[in-house]
Amino acid sequence: MFPVTRPRRLRRTPALRDMVRETSLAADDFIWPLFVTGGRGFREPVEAMPGVYRVSPDVLLDDLSGPVGLGLRAIMLFGVLPDDQKDAVGTGAYADDGVVQTAIRQVKAAYPNLIVVPDVCLCEYTDHGHCGIVRPPAAGAGPGAAATIDNDATLPVLARTALSCVRAGADMVAPSDMMDGRVGAIRAALDEAGFTDTPIMAYSAKYASAFYGPFREAAGSAPRFGDRRSYQMDPANRREARREVELDLAEGADIVMVKPALPYLDIIGDVAAASPVPVAAYNVSGEYAMVKAAAANGWVSERPLVTEILTAIKRAGADLILSYHTPDVLRWLKEG
Ligand code: PBG
Repeated sequence: MFPVTRPRRLRRTPALRDMVRETSLAADDFIWPLFVTGGRGFREPVEAMPGVYRVSPDVLLDDLSGPVGLGLRAIMLFGVLPDDQKDAVGTGAYADDGVVQTAIRQVKAAYPNLIVVPDVCLCEYTDHGHCGIVRPPAAGAGPGAAATIDNDATLPVLARTALSCVRAGADMVAPSDMMDGRVGAIRAALDEAGFTDTPIMAYSAKYASAFYGPFREAAGSAPRFGDRRSYQMDPANRREARREVELDLAEGADIVMVKPALPYLDIIGDVAAASPVPVAAYNVSGEYAMVKAAAANGWVSERPLVTEILTAIKRAGADLILSYHTPDVLRWLKEG
């Protein structure tokens, strides 16, 4: 007890603090999410996400060179399609010459050692903006009857999408749609085509979150009717995350993800305690937008705030972090 015990002894100098620090960030903890379109020479800012752009593949290659030089290990790719190229069943998601498939080929050709992970989902490619196939209300159903998202009809489309990305050269696939059984369906399709060594990073505990708002602007993927609460998890539920993780593991997930990250540190902690596989956490668009807006106003100091947030996510148990802050973090790690 005090005065013999003084925790401040180990906080006295920077060297002592460095020596006893329990959690630190490293370049290979990070996966940088990026938005890619078709065309050439295209760059368009995402308004709610300063520093984030929608780019064509050639511009993407330019944007990658700096971060790759700073130790960028992995990227996640989201496709952005003009509305007139979307349809009810998300055909653009699995086209061999689709935006993501094209970008994967170009990125892998230019940066063979960069791990390329496409997000596998239909919402960026469907004209209704849902992550699955929409089944209209049954004929003769009353005026209150709503369309539903057809879980089982969506699975083959997701499997086909994952396979087309892997054929284009993806190193890993990350299904984010939250349909039941999609990890198993994707695993079976990859194995059948001979891609037995391609891992699946499952968005296992993905919550129906208001923190995805800026992303939906970036990807043009907001649902045109209703919301995603019939497939994404209820933010009020903690125990259910364990069940989602167990199911994805049983279906063959190689990495499990919690999303969002900062408001869900309890979930990350639970999943990390129970999971025998690596745990990823997605520091989502709304988390990024809040930090950027406050920093732009001079209300917070960006580097220490971002460092603290990302350290907290890792401290909670995340082995990997998906973050739009990745290029800044790589620069800060290099600067020291
Ligand atoms: C696609 C998907 C979303 C995000 C990742 N994949 C949006 C959503 O589910 O509505 C969100 C990422 C972010 O907010 O940064 N289903």
